Amino acid sequence: MANIYLRPQLAADMARQLLQPGVLDTGLRSGLFLSGLRRTGKTTFLLNDLIPALEQSGALVIYVDLWSDTQTSPATLVHAAIKKTLAELASPGSTLLDKFKRFGAVDLGAFGFKFGFKLDALGSEGGPTLAQALREVVDQARTDVVLIIDEVQQAITSEEGNQLLLALKSARDAINPRPDTPGHFLFIGTGSHRALVSELTARRNQAFAGATSIEYPVLGEDYVSHLLDRLKQEGLGPLPSLAVAVQAFRTLGNRPEEMLKALRQLLFALPAGLVADAHLPTIANTLRSTAADIELLKVEQLGPLASAIFEKIALSNGDARGLFSAEAATDYSVAIGHDVKVEEVQPLVNELLAANLVMRRGHGLYGITDPFVQEIWRERHSLQQKLRD
Ligand SMILES: Nc1ncnc2c1ncn2[C@@H]1O[C@H](COP(=O)(O)OP(=O)(O)O)[C@@H](O)[C@H]1O
Ligand SMILES: [Mg+2]
Repeated sequence: MANIYLRPQLAADMARQLLQPGVLDTGLRSGLFLSGLRRTGKTTFLLNDLIPALEQSGALVIYVDLWSDTQTSPATLVHAAIKKTLAELASPGSTLLDKFKRFGAVDLGAFGFKFGFKLDALGSEGGPTLAQALREVVDQARTDVVLIIDEVQQAITSEEGNQLLLALKSARDAINPRPDTPGHFLFIGTGSHRALVSELTARRNQAFAGATSIEYPVLGEDYVSHLLDRLKQEGLGPLPSLAVAVQAFRTLGNRPEEMLKALRQLLFALPAGLVADAHLPTIANTLRSTAADIELLKVEQLGPLASAIFEKIALSNGDARGLFSAEAATDYSVAIGHDVKVEEVQPLVNELLAANLVMRRGHGLYGITDPFVQEIWRERHSLQQKLRD
C-alpha cells in the first residue's frame, strides 16, 4: 500500500459534496456516476481515498465490484455485499461495528443492529425488498448509507441487472424524501465505459435518469512529481524533467502501471549517451498499446473464428447485431478462409463474454468491453488496411 499516491483532498471534497450537499450539489442525492478508462486508478481511489473519507464523516459504506466475477449476476453480487454488511452490523463486536462506532456520532450500544427481517431472505422471492432493508439500516444507523458499485455498467447488460438498478432507485425514493429521515441512501457507480455510464443517467427510461455523471479525475502532474521525487530519493537517474514525464504519462493514458513500466525501461535500459528527456517520449509511444495487447492476445488465443467475431463487434459502434445470422457466418467464413456453421458461433461468443472481452448490451446486441482496447484494435486495423491497399 505504501506505493499508492493518496488524494485525500479530492476525496474529502467529494465526500462533503455527497454527504452535505450545497444548493448546487443536491443532484448528487439522485446518484453519482464516475467514468474513466480502465486501469487509470478508479478502484484504487475508491478503496484508498473515497471510502475512508466517507467513513470518517460517519457514513456507512457498502462496496461491490461487478467485475470481481463477471460470471455471477450483478444482482447476486450486490445482494451478497449488502447481506455481508448487514450481517456484520448485526454481530456485536464485529470490526465494522467497531469502526462505525468510532466514527459515528451515535452510540449504538453493544448489541449491534436488529433487523425486522431474515437477512438470508434478502434478494429472494418473498424476502424483504432492498428498499425495506436499506431503510431499516438508515433508520437504525441514523446516518447516511452509501452503496458503491464499481463497474456499474455491467448491470445494464442483463434484464436482472436492470431490475436491480430499479430496485436501488426505489430504495432511494423510499428513504430520501422523508422529511424526518435520519440519513440518506446514496448511490455511487463507476465505470470504465463512458458511453454506457452516461447512458445510465441520460436516458429517461434508465433507473438513474437525472443523476450526476462526471469524469473520474485522472492522476496528473502532482502524481508524476511525487513519483520522480521518490525515484530521486532512491538515488535513481538520470531522471526526465517533470514536463517531459507528465507528457509521457498523458501519452500512456494516465495509467500508473504503464508509467512505472516506462520509467523502468528508461532507467534500466537507457542506451549510453541518450538523454532521458529525449528517450522517454519514444518509450511511452511504444508502451501506449501494451495494456490493450494483453486483451487482444486473449482474443487471438481463442482462435481465428473468435477473432473474426471480435472484428465484427469492434467495427461497430458498440451495437453489433446479428452475430449469429447466416449472413454473419458467411462473413466469418470469408475472413478465416473456411466454412463456418452458424452453431459454431455461440460457444465462441460465450468465451469472449466469459473473458470480459465483449459485453452484451441488450437483446442480441454486443459491444467491446474496454473502449481503449477497441481504439487500439481500430488503429491497427486501419493501418493494416492501408498497407493492403
Ligand atoms: N493513486 C495511485 N497511486 C499509485 N498507483 C496507482 C494509483 N491508482 C492506481 N494505481 C495503480 O494502477 C493500476 C490500476 O488501478 P485500478 O484502480 O485498478 O484502475 P481502474 O479501477 O480504473 O481500472 C493498479 O495497479 C494500481 O495499483
Ligand atoms: Mg476498477
